[in-house]
Amino acid sequence: MAENDKIAVIKELCRKKEDYVTAFKEILKIIKGERERPDQFGFSMYDIRGMSVHLLSRLRQDQILKCTYESNKGKWFWLADDLPVEDIERAIEEVDEEQCENEKIGLQNQLPYNIGWLEKWEQMLRDGVDMLEYWSKQINPKVIGLEYVKQVVLLSLASAGDKYGDRGRIHVLMYGDPGTAKSAIGGWLVHTLGIIGASHRTSDVGLTGDARGDTIAPGILPVANERAVYIDELDKFSEKDRYGLLESMEEGEVIIHAGKTHVRLPARCRVIAGANSIKNFAPELLDRFDFKVDLKIPGIDEEKEIIAQIVEAWREAKEGYYGEELRAYLEWIKSYEPKIPDEVRKMIAILIQAFIDMNEAVRGSIRKKESIVRVAYTIAKLNRRAMKAEDVLHAIRLLYPTINGGQVTILQTLMGMVR
Ligand SMILES: Nc1ncnc2c1ncn2[C@@H]1O[C@H](COP(=O)(O)OP(=O)(O)OP(=O)(O)O)[C@@H](O)[C@H]1O
Ligand SMILES: [Mg+2]
Repeated sequence: MAENDKIAVIKELCRKKEDYVTAFKEILKIIKGERERPDQFGFSMYDIRGMSVHLLSRLRQDQILKCTYESNKGKWFWLADDLPVEDIERAIEEVDEEQCENEKIGLQNQLPYNIGWLEKWEQMLRDGVDMLEYWSKQINPKVIGLEYVKQVVLLSLASAGDKYGDRGRIHVLMYGDPGTAKSAIGGWLVHTLGIIGASHRTSDVGLTGDARGDTIAPGILPVANERAVYIDELDKFSEKDRYGLLESMEEGEVIIHAGKTHVRLPARCRVIAGANSIKNFAPELLDRFDFKVDLKIPGIDEEKEIIAQIVEAWREAKEGYYGEELRAYLEWIKSYEPKIPDEVRKMIAILIQAFIDMNEAVRGSIRKKESIVRVAYTIAKLNRRAMKAEDVLHAIRLLYPTINGGQVTILQTLMGMVR
């Protein structure tokens, strides 16, 4: 990247985030020797206020920073050789004078930081590791098998927020036979990964909340605004709660009635729910789940295999059990927005149209077709890259697991022909 391009990147970053302006000013201060304890090796991430993992990763990717020294305590950085300090200084002054509305991310947004992880992930992405497959295996590793369920749960956790009226959030419903690990997965998400949990036994204000005199007691959904929530035994909640859930899933808010008025609270949650029976669920509610997974008691061979693996790891911590690295990864990709190149956008439409043509059975629900786009977008987000048409085929396979494999081949061929 040429020097001018690098300066442009710095300006672009500073226009977006106030903290990045701070970070660059501190870097310049260090480089010009104006700090108390000049560091012969350059600076480490911890020296710079406002330096986030995202910023560090971007600066290294664009070769604005280079790594100059590495020790077991961490890494030290310095500016790339072709970058004159004066040019950066001028660029930052210019951005400052523009008085742009850059957002403050706040230092608390920095990760519980581990540069070793970041480097490992970046290498994995360069190697083209499928991050959906990789990370889904770390969702409650004590639960054997159920790869598909774990993948769709991960998609929900990684899914984007809503934007311009398009829902980015992915919702998952696990239902079916007792003892099929619904609570084992959901409980792990709550207790280990730290998502919000709701159960009819523990919640006294229900999912939406209620009004007691003048005070509003928000339920679980508004509390979980912009986060993921696991609702155990959704069939045991009241009809009213399930209606509130429906509004939160689609509209991203709940309405609490207080006397003659009502209060709207934001509740843009990613919903993961478990239930035994869904026969009393309104079709509108079911329609809002991108994935509905029917869990069945395993067959005899599978059961024997599961028990063998349970015994093998009995009272042992399996890799990923504490979920720390997954949690950090999800944090790292949280605000990443995959680009959607124009030609990819066109191809996505063509592929979904062809898919509709091939299947009378999938006709009739536009919402389900939006799910395809949403899931494909999340796959790109999990892999921290722009969207590809292939993501749509992957999304179709996940959303329609019983679809005849030949159809995916036809879509693949079509994709090749249109290109
Ligand atoms: N695939 C599996 N691997 C490991 N353990 C499993 C598996 N399936 C079930 N179990 C174990 O079986 C027990 C019952 O599972 P769990 O309570 O999660 O079921 P559930 O689907 O929530 O059932 P219910 O519908 O009755 O609430 C747990 O101890 C769980 O760890
Ligand atoms: Mg259960």
